Amino acid sequence: MSSGTGLFVTFEGGEGAGKSTQIRRLAESLRANGYDVLLTREPGGSSGAEAVRHVLLSGAAEAFGTRMEAILFAAARNDHVEEVIRPALAAQTVVLCDRFMDSSRVYQGVTGNLEAEFIETLQRVAVNGIVPDCTLILDLPATAGLERARRRGATADLGPDRYEKEELQTHEKRREAFLDIAAREPERCHVIDAMQAEETIATAIFAVVEHHLLPRETPTTAAGDAENRAEAAHE
Ligand code: TYD
Repeated sequence: MSSGTGLFVTFEGGEGAGKSTQIRRLAESLRANGYDVLLTREPGGSSGAEAVRHVLLSGAAEAFGTRMEAILFAAARNDHVEEVIRPALAAQTVVLCDRFMDSSRVYQGVTGNLEAEFIETLQRVAVNGIVPDCTLILDLPATAGLERARRRGATADLGPDRYEKEELQTHEKRREAFLDIAAREPERCHVIDAMQAEETIATAIFAVVEHHLLPRETPTTAAGDAENRAEAAHE
């Protein structure tokens, strides 16, 4: 993490991986440790992006093709970055985002069959320099994830969204694509086995994020003061 800014953490993975539960748990643990936390999600997270979210998830844009959908995801992302994420990071906040640029690489790029170069060009414009410091990829077999997503949908009385409806094979392909990104960018990406118990996953995620926060000053004043005094004594 660069000094003077917050920390940007993204959560990625297929359907039903438990991202929402884990992101909420991480937010609670970080707040309990004195950090300012902003919890946000994509598509959405800013008023402009939330307006585009419905168009994308209802399938209303599907008829216009994946290229159009990719551009809409990028437009939503840029609004979210400029209106919400960049200001929060500048205010030293830990930003936790449920899905971000890797979802576009996987859903629109790999399984949407768009050329990687097109996706990367869009991403550059969309993120405008704001790249996650740390990405947690929650990994599980597509069958298990879809089963969980279906149960969740049935409880909430919701049908599957535009992306949940796709074939099992497509979901498996996405899993592989997330793992490929993790293999290419091991410093940023951490793969977490999402078949483990909820508590075990939460502990693993907290350990990864805590490691990224280490160079940062301890947020609690008392501990921070003690540290500063110790440092001064060494000078
Ligand atoms: P959502 O219901 O928010 O959540 P979940 O992350 O639990 O699946 O659905 C978001 C859907 O949008 C999801 O199926 C992935 C898809 N998506 C993309 O295709 N591209 C993107 O860039 C993003 C952010 C999401």
